Amino acid sequence: DHHHYQSQSRSFAGKYTPSSGSLSTRRELYEKDFPLYKQPVEIGCFSLDCNRRFFNDGRQMRYYVEPDRNPNFNLRDGYKDRFTKRDESQKEKLDHILRWIVSNRSKLNSKGVAASSSAIDFDFVTWRGHLTKLLCTPYEMREGWMLAVTRFQGTIYISEVETEAARRDCENRTEKHEEMMYWGYKFEQYACSDDVDGSPDPSGVVNTNEAFCTVVQTRLADHRLLFSGEVDCRDKDPNAPAPPACYVELKTSAEICTPKQRSNLHRFKLLKWWAQSFLPGVPRVVAGFRDHDGVVVAVETFHISKISQLIKNEYNCWKPTVCMNFCSDFLSFVKRVATEDNPCVVYLFSWEPRRDVTYSIHRDSEFSFLPHWYVEEMTR
Ligand code: A3P
Ligand code: MG
Ligand code: MG
Repeated sequence: DHHHYQSQSRSFAGKYTPSSGSLSTRRELYEKDFPLYKQPVEIGCFSLDCNRRFFNDGRQMRYYVEPDRNPNFNLRDGYKDRFTKRDESQKEKLDHILRWIVSNRSKLNSKGVAASSSAIDFDFVTWRGHLTKLLCTPYEMREGWMLAVTRFQGTIYISEVETEAARRDCENRTEKHEEMMYWGYKFEQYACSDDVDGSPDPSGVVNTNEAFCTVVQTRLADHRLLFSGEVDCRDKDPNAPAPPACYVELKTSAEICTPKQRSNLHRFKLLKWWAQSFLPGVPRVVAGFRDHDGVVVAVETFHISKISQLIKNEYNCWKPTVCMNFCSDFLSFVKRVATEDNPCVVYLFSWEPRRDVTYSIHRDSEFSFLPHWYVEEMTR
């Protein structure tokens, strides 16, 4: 429920054995009190334009325009002729976040050198999407992950590495699946305008290079976090609360016709939707439900603070506390393992469903991900 964001400290216990080289992902181990998770605060934002160029501002922000209760949005429109797809082979790693840090360094520096062991006053820097994967791990049955970790100036950077299986899946995507990946972006075009007083323009081009990203600061247990995540749009009301509370996440899903389908939405999709938005403090998800022909025929708003109530009656369902406790314990595990402060050293954490999290250590390898320009800028 909405009390899940806390402003007060409380004690917690890690669930790894201090001498162990692995971390269990068994759900039962993480059924404890909800850990401290501070209300996330937006400390900045950045934009990526139609050519994936970085800007240290909010120029790509869009405004939510509430669709009709019973819309008729054809998500297939424009797939063939009005779609510019981002080059997924271009691995950007943490580069955009690091650029944002360099551009905003004065805001981040410790006030007194003695006050902190880390130059930017954070224990972890990462993408929100990587944390979403961690939150979902105790319930994930299909896809594993690999996370590269580097400690530099006391801060731990976490950047995803594509698994073999993910690379295969990506290469073997069917034409149908390719098209369905477009549908989510097309829905955004029907529900967003570029200007605060404008209307959506479904006749335009869908360009997935474009992004508006929020940068937030928060704390999970004793972990001080800085992460960034893409935001779909914001409330256009000028009296809406300050970011991230004015942000709206958009999703598409198959139309719900039976109680079983509703139950599956709660048990599987809402986990991912909740994790993604809860982390940066985005309060609502607007879902567009599409029929078999890719036409959105209904929309429904899900309030993140109400999701834990919504799922309580589902049999064998996920629990927010398990997600957050696992993430917290994973970060404690990382702190304990990644001890050498060196931008050329990567601790590679790997996980496969039904296994424990394990790691290996790599020096000057293909896994190193902190760019020279960043290391140089931060040591100047
Ligand atoms: P849906 O969310 O409607 O599925 P996001 O919702 O995170 O803003 O992402 C926007 C869209 O990007 C998604 O719309 C989906 O179409 C596509 N997308 C995001 N992550 C994806 C993934 N891992 N695999 C396939 N498509 C993805
Ligand atoms: Mg998005
Ligand atoms: Mg979305």
